[in-house]
Amino acid sequence: MSSLFSPFTLKDARLRNRIAVPPMCQYSATDGLVNDWHLSHYASLARGGAALVIVEATAVSPEGRITPACLGLWSDEQAAGLARIAAAIRAAGAVPGIQIGHAGRKASANSPWEGDDHIPADDPRGWETLSPSAIAFGANLPRMPTEMGTDDIARVTRDFAAATRRAREAGFEWLELHFAHGYLAQSFFSPHANQRCDGYGGDHAGRARFLLETLAAVRAEWPERLPLTARFGVIEYDGRDEETLADSIELVREFRAGGLDLLNVSVNFCIPTAKVPWGPAFLAPIAERVKREAGLPVASSWGIERAADAERVVADGQMDLVMIGRAMLANPHYPYALAKKLGLDPSWVLPAPYAHWLERYRLEAD
Ligand SMILES: Cc1cc2nc3c(=O)[nH]c(=O)nc-3n(C[C@H](O)[C@H](O)[C@H](O)COP(=O)(O)O)c2cc1C
Repeated sequence: MSSLFSPFTLKDARLRNRIAVPPMCQYSATDGLVNDWHLSHYASLARGGAALVIVEATAVSPEGRITPACLGLWSDEQAAGLARIAAAIRAAGAVPGIQIGHAGRKASANSPWEGDDHIPADDPRGWETLSPSAIAFGANLPRMPTEMGTDDIARVTRDFAAATRRAREAGFEWLELHFAHGYLAQSFFSPHANQRCDGYGGDHAGRARFLLETLAAVRAEWPERLPLTARFGVIEYDGRDEETLADSIELVREFRAGGLDLLNVSVNFCIPTAKVPWGPAFLAPIAERVKREAGLPVASSWGIERAADAERVVADGQMDLVMIGRAMLANPHYPYALAKKLGLDPSWVLPAPYAHWLERYRLEAD
């Protein structure tokens, strides 16, 4: 009996196993619109046997895109393209999810393979970036952001709510708010990025305010029967880990009280000098602590690809869902490979047109 391949139900979302594909930007859109690349990419990930496929960080407004090639959800035309992706994921037996976010001071960047840095200020492809304070991230992202006024804050919160409405109408059944990775929401909570003196900065309540108000605005638009989740960095690895974790877990409890159903536990990435202890499943003990202390189901990723690790983190109760990213890009049928490794009959993980042949055909690469 495998824990990794046991079903998981959260509200009306019924997942066939515990394997989820986390959001992964494709940097392949024009004007925020879906094209054939996105359609074939997400359909193949869903056919590969994952239970949940979360569409990449999709911007709630044009200036909220990480790069000019990111997806958007600020227009009905964009929503119509995303509806095709949601339908393709569902047709392949997975739950269709989407991550919506605003990139804040990390916006207006080049794609990773074009430099992964800020577009120069005099380049017309770029745009003015927004952040809680006029503090640049630094390193490869040196552009100085504009400090948001309270009207900017109210407008972005409304943009999150409008994108949520469109995500619902497009047929997504799992919503993930991007509150992680040094983008706008994470910046509001981080003392490294937020040094405001008004009600949106300072103490815990001030730094949490934008996130909680956004959650409330989204909650009002997202159906109660479907999972509302967030990805949130709970640790910065800046030498103040215990303090940051305690502060973060307090906020996760507030998320739960505000109607969040699951947290995708991640890293803050608000400073370029963080000492992240990369390694297989390194976030698992932290995810487990968040789950225990905040009382919310959790998912997490980062280096969980060995079958034994994926099985263990679920069996030990450290995570409810395992997010597997790069291994799924390398092989969208990775769940099949995991099932084989765990000694399970893997044929049911594949769609019938493949399974019929591969049951009798053994690839020796693994
Ligand atoms: C190409 C690529 C794009 C990514 N884009 C996003 C994104 O849109 N949103 C997000 O929260 N994380 C993003 N990430 C992080 C992944 O969701 C995931 O956490 C990371 O790849 C670690 O998991 P892994 O070790 O299984 O690959 C991205 C990662 C990759 C490799």
